[in-house]
Amino acid sequence: MKINIHDIGTIAVHESKRGPASITLPKVAPIYASSVFDFEKLEDIDAVYEGTKKGYIYSRVDNPNISLLENMVAKLEQAEAGAAFSSGMAAITSSILACIKEGDHVVANRVLYGGSYSFLADHLQALGIKVTFTDFSDTDRVKEAITEKTRILYVETISNPLMEVADLPALAEIAKQHGLKLMVDNTFASPYVCNPIALGADVVVHSATKYLNGHSDVTGGIAVGTRKFVNKVKEIRSLWGGCMSPFDAWLVLRGIRTLHLRMREHCSNALKLAEQLSKHPKVLRVNYPGLIEHPQHRLACEILKGGFGGMLSFEVEGGVEGAAKVIEALKLVDLTPSLAGVATTVSHPGKTSHRSLSSDVKNRIGVRDSLIRVSVGIETIDTVIADFEQALNTITLD
Ligand SMILES: Cc1ncc(COP(=O)(O)O)c(C=O)c1O
Repeated sequence: MKINIHDIGTIAVHESKRGPASITLPKVAPIYASSVFDFEKLEDIDAVYEGTKKGYIYSRVDNPNISLLENMVAKLEQAEAGAAFSSGMAAITSSILACIKEGDHVVANRVLYGGSYSFLADHLQALGIKVTFTDFSDTDRVKEAITEKTRILYVETISNPLMEVADLPALAEIAKQHGLKLMVDNTFASPYVCNPIALGADVVVHSATKYLNGHSDVTGGIAVGTRKFVNKVKEIRSLWGGCMSPFDAWLVLRGIRTLHLRMREHCSNALKLAEQLSKHPKVLRVNYPGLIEHPQHRLACEILKGGFGGMLSFEVEGGVEGAAKVIEALKLVDLTPSLAGVATTVSHPGKTSHRSLSSDVKNRIGVRDSLIRVSVGIETIDTVIADFEQALNTITLD
């Protein structure tokens, strides 16, 4: 339709809605910052809703940038399909809700990211779903905790913040025998270090805020598994509203292009820092699966490939005062309550990620006041090691 050149209102609203005509393609997929999509024909609405034609309707339900990211992570994790979310917690809570109903039961590791722990311990119980926390490093305890109502075994590949490594093949076998879903938070490992689905897991969740994005500029999450599971979890995403923004999906996809390079550096730097920390007289203990003295080092060698991850934690002499002294004396390394960016950062789990846990639970699981968690970055590691050494040397014991 020809529009009158003086009709500013119509021009302003309808002109330049589509990309300009071009025989060339953009090198990088554009950001589809569109909350909704136009149809040419009424019959196509049925076709897209019913899945007989591919198309997008509304970005809370799906969006091209989200699809590109989901496809990428599903491939990296060797899964059939994926669903991206507004945060790691949205991916975790939606995935759990997709697999259970009132009256069901979940068995979860006693050491988990504090947010996941609180959701399981407080919020799920309020929905009439019972949760038993047990020690997943002892598979007999896991078996003992299973009841006829159990539907999910929930664990982190490498636990936050104690770096326990889950025996995924053994847990997958138990899940199979009892008809349960093994759900694994693979955030600390990333798909570069471990592929839980290849080891028998049913569902893998990630805080994409961490290694997948890798640059501390996005909050996001993703869950991958069978197409059946993903269809169900997408229904929950659509109705509970935990969708990711197209720009965030675009940024995470850009971050993933260098995941393998970043992870290689994170892993090799973390091993060097763990080795140096474990020699320091003011360090009581270092938790890193790459160290021979780590209780699951053998298992880690079997199931972690390409390295042992970029996360470690350690306890210092002097309790919380000792930890505060080290953290405050660090010059290059910042105190940052997240992880997996390119810069080395520290955090105090007791005061941040595990703050919501009672002192009783923290003490029982080993999240002590003297524990410092390190997200090892990709800088020149000798400089980072020197910073930790000078900071640790400030601890003086009376
Ligand atoms: C292991 C792990 N899983 C899940 C989450 C939650 O992710 P998000 O902060 O993106 O919701 C975190 C956050 O720190 C985490 O460390």
